Amino acid sequence: MPPDRPADSGTELARMERWMPEGPTPVSQSHGRHRVVVIDDEPENLELLSRILQPEYDCALFASGEAALAAIEAGRQVDLALVDQRMPGMSGIQFLALLKERSPQTMRLVLSAHTELGDLIDAVNRGEVYRYIVKPFKIDELRSILRQALERYELGQEHDRLLADLQRSNRELQENQAHLAKERSMREAMYRERIHSLARTVAGVAHALNTPLGVAKSACAVVRTAIKQVAADSVEPMAGEVREDLLDSCALLLRSLSRAEQVVQEFKGLAAFDMVADPIDCDLVELVQSSIHALGPALATAKIAVRVQTNGTQAFPWRGHPDSFEQIIEALIQNSIRHAYTEQGGGSLDLRLSAADHNGTKRYRIEIEDYGRGVPAEVRPRIFEPFVTSQRDRGATGLGLAVIHNVVTNMLGGTIRCESHEGKGTMFTVEIPALVPGQLPSGPTG
Ligand SMILES: Nc1ncnc2c1ncn2[C@@H]1O[C@H](COP(=O)(O)OP(=O)(O)O)[C@@H](O)[C@H]1O
Ligand SMILES: [Mg+2]
Repeated sequence: MPPDRPADSGTELARMERWMPEGPTPVSQSHGRHRVVVIDDEPENLELLSRILQPEYDCALFASGEAALAAIEAGRQVDLALVDQRMPGMSGIQFLALLKERSPQTMRLVLSAHTELGDLIDAVNRGEVYRYIVKPFKIDELRSILRQALERYELGQEHDRLLADLQRSNRELQENQAHLAKERSMREAMYRERIHSLARTVAGVAHALNTPLGVAKSACAVVRTAIKQVAADSVEPMAGEVREDLLDSCALLLRSLSRAEQVVQEFKGLAAFDMVADPIDCDLVELVQSSIHALGPALATAKIAVRVQTNGTQAFPWRGHPDSFEQIIEALIQNSIRHAYTEQGGGSLDLRLSAADHNGTKRYRIEIEDYGRGVPAEVRPRIFEPFVTSQRDRGATGLGLAVIHNVVTNMLGGTIRCESHEGKGTMFTVEIPALVPGQLPSGPTG
């Protein structure tokens, strides 16, 4: 395209301005030619600059800074502005200062005579001018300076693009995380509700069985006494043998009833939310030590060493229910003894206590980690449900963790989770508030 004809020097708005008819185009043409604005009040200079630059760039020529600003304000994106310093109206530096406000990314270059360098250096220092070119200049030098400036411009653009990408990815990541956290807490709430409703059902059945079992046991004791009495009074020779048989049966009946009573007691543990006692001031480290002490013989037999780590903090004051806390610790350690290290080979257990702030309330975290065989894959997703056990054939009820879950969540207002890798070990993490909630979540009563 031939260069535009320079305007008559007296004309304020440049006639050679070619961009206006196209209207606003906000996108930089970094893949095509760069957009360059050239401003000089002297038509011959403008003509010369146009001849040098037009083949390489998409140039717009203006006779004044005012005219150029009007075009830029109409929405044109400009990659580089080259302006003469000495002009009758707005000076080159004044133009570039205004341009910086309107289009900070545009590279700003000024052409000036030797005598004007003082003003220029100030403008460079204020960041309004990227480079100045002293007149008279060599054509190759001018071209090379413009190329360098536009390379720099592209780097800046790329930087901005990358930054914007990064910010967008970050935002998306945060949104995803928030979404996942919400989903997870919904799943957890549903899981808790499922366990609680199962637990309530079982506890209800246990309550119903309790009385008839007690009655059956008493009746059995009465029968046994009666048999002994009848046999003692009888003179029949067969009576002795019949008596022994009957007494054996009574003993068997009593043992079975006692076992049933035990199981019913365990079932009733699932209704821990019914037991509301006043919280007591105690210390978690002491409770942990006393639980380990109580399990001393079992740990020694299984050759399991327990390490307690308290993260440098010596005291973990807790206003809560000491029996319940010990029940939790003991059940979890017993599970490690029973399920993690079954091969008499011994092993170790880490028990870590720490404190943290959670939405402004102090919470304690207790981690119990063993390095044993891990929870079987089929048990893992339902580990806190009642009757889930991998050792039913050995008389296990699968109630231990269901009871613990209930105690932690209902009585202590906390959470419990299990992480396990087969062959590597298992870690239970219990988190409880330092102050047991005054209002215990009663759970729907059924
Ligand atoms: N520390 C552990 N290591 C491996 N498996 C475990 C551990 N703790 C619990 N389990 C698994 O979780 C199941 C459920 O535990 P629990 O509710 O205490 O019932 P139970 O001990 O009566 O089996 C266990 O049968 C076992 O499969
Ligand atoms: Mg158990």
